[in-house]
Amino acid sequence: MKILAIESSCDETAAAIVENGRIVLSDIIASSAELHKLYGGVVPEIASRKHLECISQVVNEALTQANVTFQEIDAIAVTYGPGLIGALLVGVSYAKALAYSLKKPLVAVHHIKAHLAANYIEHPDLTPPYVGLVASGGHSHIVYASDWVDFEVLGRTRDDAAGEAFDKVARTIGLGYPGGPLLEQLAKKGNAYAYDFPRVQFDNFDFSFSGVKTAVINAMHKAEQKGESINAADVAASFQCAATDVLVAHTLAAAKAKGVKTVVMAGGVSANGYLRQRFTDACQEEGFSFLCPRPRYCTDNGVMVGAAGYFMAQKEDFCSLNENAYATLPF
Ligand code: KG4
Ligand code: ZN
Repeated sequence: MKILAIESSCDETAAAIVENGRIVLSDIIASSAELHKLYGGVVPEIASRKHLECISQVVNEALTQANVTFQEIDAIAVTYGPGLIGALLVGVSYAKALAYSLKKPLVAVHHIKAHLAANYIEHPDLTPPYVGLVASGGHSHIVYASDWVDFEVLGRTRDDAAGEAFDKVARTIGLGYPGGPLLEQLAKKGNAYAYDFPRVQFDNFDFSFSGVKTAVINAMHKAEQKGESINAADVAASFQCAATDVLVAHTLAAAKAKGVKTVVMAGGVSANGYLRQRFTDACQEEGFSFLCPRPRYCTDNGVMVGAAGYFMAQKEDFCSLNENAYATLPF
């Protein structure tokens, strides 16, 4: 089964052709991140306009790269939420129009579930059950996968998402947008134990990242008031270490509680090399197998939507042409 997948929930317009949920026939991503850099964050209106400008070309390129015609597509999958509503509407409207004109079934894919499904592409042997961490710019969820696309949420952030915290701390220490990858680079030159930033624990697997972000801001202000210069690399490394400590600890605690053997990670933050290494080491120590997609499939892409869409299509979980886009969406 060949699925044409479309993703437009944030600042990437992406399309892919995925066969049987596992084989990538094409993978096209057009990003408007360069334009948002000017403003220090994603400007929703600009993101929507760029999606409109390039969606046709991105989809056409996906077909060309896969050497597949519109008629040879079996179904269309599209991200319908959560995300920026104007951005999502471009992808959803385009996908509905295609489904209508081509008379193909349409699958409405949850963006966070799609992130997890990137692992089905990367790791063909992966089968549920597993415990997964999705750490992105908008979400930080620990889930138990009882089935391919059915998840029980075990923990979530109570305030900022992990990626949001990376981006805010990066901005505070004077790095550009998107902050996560820039912070990771700077952290390589810093001491991860120079600052003792908080690691927030609850009596469940939830996260809180707003405290660590505030602690970074306070450390910067304190140094400023004393007329001291701050070592930004030390701040970056110490923040990254604090955030990683809780992401790893909570996920592994959830995996133990559920008695699974496999831990997977997904979402933009999982492109972080330090986090990947810490997960690899901790899982090895605790006897879990650990899986994570390559960095291109961690951040937003169409391939992951094609993988999630396939497993939904297998269950005939199609949507109608009245389907809408949603800024927020329960799991
Ligand atoms: O999954 P994603 O591409 O979009 C959302 O669904 O939000 O995630 C984007 C987030 C941003 O906050 C970005 O700073 C973060 O992922 N990110 C990283 C890295 N690469 C992307 N955070 C830390 N280290 C990275 N290398
Ligand atoms: Zn995402």
